[in-house]
Amino acid sequence: MLQNTISDGVLHVADPEPAPPPPLIRLRGLTKSFGPNTVLNNVSFDIPEGRTTAIIGPSGTGKSVMLKHIVGLIRPDAGEVLCFGTDMARAPEPALYAARRRMGMLFQDGALFDSFTVGENVAFPLVHHAPQMSEDERRAKVNEKLALVGLPGTYERATASLSGGQRKRVGLARAIIMEPEIVLFDEPNSGLDPITSDAIDQLICDMKQALGVTFVVITHDIVGTVRVADYIAMLYRGDLIAWGPTAEVLRAEHPVLRAFLQRNLILPPAGGSGDARLPAVQ
Ligand SMILES: Nc1ncnc2c1ncn2[C@@H]1O[C@H](COP(=O)(O)OP(=O)(O)O)[C@@H](O)[C@H]1O
Ligand SMILES: [Mg+2]
Repeated sequence: MLQNTISDGVLHVADPEPAPPPPLIRLRGLTKSFGPNTVLNNVSFDIPEGRTTAIIGPSGTGKSVMLKHIVGLIRPDAGEVLCFGTDMARAPEPALYAARRRMGMLFQDGALFDSFTVGENVAFPLVHHAPQMSEDERRAKVNEKLALVGLPGTYERATASLSGGQRKRVGLARAIIMEPEIVLFDEPNSGLDPITSDAIDQLICDMKQALGVTFVVITHDIVGTVRVADYIAMLYRGDLIAWGPTAEVLRAEHPVLRAFLQRNLILPPAGGSGDARLPAVQ
């Protein structure tokens, strides 16, 4: 019988897979404050290879800050993030860049250049990291990725003319242009209508199948999470409160987790009784 455990206040949900995949990213005791504001408090968990892990939690709980630690853009006050075994806060620059090259990142705001064409945006990492590549080769690669994300033939299109969903797709094409092993996606559904949002979730599932990449998806949209995630890590006010396979986490009895799910309208209250309201986030 699988047993869930609680250690240091974190609910570790047992993994029913007989041989869970090995971790590609390990967070150990990750702690970060900005002035008096402790944003991440001793967070430890593993991100398994070849699966999609969702980092969920209300706004302002440290999800984006965690992602920036994973790519080495922010240094922790304590603890470490190991990506492919590389300590992202302490590795020398060549090792840090080598690890980063194995990751594709989509920032929350898309971070596309409006003055570029769609193709130029997608080509941007290639221009920097593979300057030896010929213009023809580069175009071919960009066109291939644009087709993969459902935007074939848009190389010359003005980025400023894209819809929100198309911008997410272009961001995804750019994130996979270097053929990374991990794609980190901050708020794939933010600012999208439900139908476009569903299409992006489907795209994430298709990409995982087609490319075999590990996805880390940061979201406060629990409905999308359930659709895409194999594993869930829930953050609340800087604390990791639950981690494990999606189906098991959704069933787990944890008052804050239940309140979050209930508030996001996917599950009834725990035990059918308590009014476990999620306290307001400051
Ligand atoms: N560079 C920064 N300097 C100071 N405070 C920051 C910085 N980045 C994030 N924060 C604060 O950290 C907290 C968590 O932010 P964030 O990780 O963006 O939340 P979310 O879970 O919504 O992604 C917020 O209170 C935010 O104001
Ligand atoms: Mg965020």
